[in-house]
Amino acid sequence: MPSIGEEIGSAVVTSALPYANGEIHLGHVASTYLPADIFTRYSRLNGRKIYHISASDDFGTPVLINAEREKKTPGDYVAFWNKRDYEDFKNLGISFDAFCRTSSKENCEFVQYVFKRLFKNGHIYDQNVIQFYCQFDNKFLPDRYVLGKCPYCGAEDQYSDLCERCGRVPDEILDPRCGICGNKPIKKQSKHYFFNLSSFSNRLKTWLNTNSNLQPDVKNYVINWINDGLRDWDITRDLSWGIPVPLPEAKGKVFYGWFDNHLCYISTMISYLQQSGIDGKAFWNSSEIYHFIGKDIVYHHYLLLPAMRMGLDTEYKLPDYIPTRGHLLLHNQKLSKSRNRYIGLRDFTTTFVPDYLRFYLSSITPYSQTDINFDWDVFSEKINNELIANIGNFINRALSFTHKTFSGMVPDPAEYNSDDNFSLSEIGAIAREVGCLLSQLEIDKSLKRILRFSGHFNQYFQIKQPWAHRQTANTTLFIAVNAVRSIAIMLEPFIPFSCEKIWCQLGMTDSIHQQSWSSVSEIRIPAGHLLGKVEPIFTKIDREVIGQHKEVLGMHNG
Ligand code: MF3
Ligand code: ZN
Repeated sequence: MPSIGEEIGSAVVTSALPYANGEIHLGHVASTYLPADIFTRYSRLNGRKIYHISASDDFGTPVLINAEREKKTPGDYVAFWNKRDYEDFKNLGISFDAFCRTSSKENCEFVQYVFKRLFKNGHIYDQNVIQFYCQFDNKFLPDRYVLGKCPYCGAEDQYSDLCERCGRVPDEILDPRCGICGNKPIKKQSKHYFFNLSSFSNRLKTWLNTNSNLQPDVKNYVINWINDGLRDWDITRDLSWGIPVPLPEAKGKVFYGWFDNHLCYISTMISYLQQSGIDGKAFWNSSEIYHFIGKDIVYHHYLLLPAMRMGLDTEYKLPDYIPTRGHLLLHNQKLSKSRNRYIGLRDFTTTFVPDYLRFYLSSITPYSQTDINFDWDVFSEKINNELIANIGNFINRALSFTHKTFSGMVPDPAEYNSDDNFSLSEIGAIAREVGCLLSQLEIDKSLKRILRFSGHFNQYFQIKQPWAHRQTANTTLFIAVNAVRSIAIMLEPFIPFSCEKIWCQLGMTDSIHQQSWSSVSEIRIPAGHLLGKVEPIFTKIDREVIGQHKEVLGMHNG
């Protein structure tokens, strides 16, 4: 685990690809994009060469069916969502280095190349399969379009390729119905290609057991899946929308989305680096690889993805980290658009400043796959009592007092008493402490530590009373203004937009996003430095607004 000041190698960070089939909601943000963005921003400040990439996941029957419904070509349809999702991410400050698409030429070529290699290496075989076919819709029904009862746990209304209750992939779903029209489908034969996943069982187990960076709780149940016996993967579909299987005898067949989508991590990285003349493969293989995901796609990332890379003779190295986080609940219930338990990202960020969402989610996001809960009251409490009353208050007091008393010029410190010395030692220690937690992907804990730091400085201000003790006010403010600087840099990964403002108010003319993490623990603002214009950075959240949002969910303000 690299930490501050040590030599750190390069890294590739990927966020699970959003389906180009609907808007980004808070659940996606909490489990994947925000943690990945915070980690990347921190790593950049820490001087690490790191790229955060993602793409839209363009293929699959749901996309095709929705495109047909909207009378658009699938290409136009996914282009719309690709752009829209990217904008939403950007508005939230998710700072991708590249956001591509699985339907890009580069990815299609790469996927076909991978298939051919796996084929040549003997990891692919064909087999006739009897498949569900809907005579009313004239379509082979892919897994997501056949609903029924899970044969393992008995849960009703499950997809035929994934039981959301027990997390397993059913062999054959019970009581099948067509997901498009509801009729009972018939069975029809078709030739499909299979990836020999089961033959990788031992190698996967060894990899899981020897990679100590993977979360132990996740690892344990993945190993249990292997022990129960893995099934080979049917990687092709009879569909018009997908990457064609590059074999003359496979006309009309395309790859299943889960064969091609994760390969887009690699193809995106390569084509992005190619623009600056960097050899993508060499870069990939000499970097630490982080795949940020939500817990619903553990199976694909802990088994299928590594097995496919093994099948390529590890031409591209396996992941070092697969940070896996839980679902976001909304007032303790599962998000569901149809049940009106849902918050879209765009809606949210047009009502509240994006940093409020980032702050709140960060404060409740552990490094584990336990579910977390979005609660409107807790949201407003965290913003009003922690972000504003603690952090905002200290910053504003320190800066406006310097303006008032010293015309905005940072004063010369005189003697240091024990409070001053303790505060200086807090500054001296904080970069390493918070940096360590962030390196370990501990989002909530690192934010808590920063809040304690800011809390300390509120107290310091209170004890030193610069308004009453004019002789020591210069020392107090010198230290306080430097503490504001430390806070601004430390919070940049969490609330980047607000930190730009703080930076401006500090009178800095360079970019907050290009500071160095280790300088958080240094006294860098000299006496005589002139502050910028100071005004409150945050606005309190109105109780009434929260009440309205709860009302939308059918709740009442208590
Ligand atoms: N689109 C998939 C989902 O939302 C995730 C794909 S991640 C990938 O579940 F890397 F595998 F592409
Ligand atoms: Zn049907």
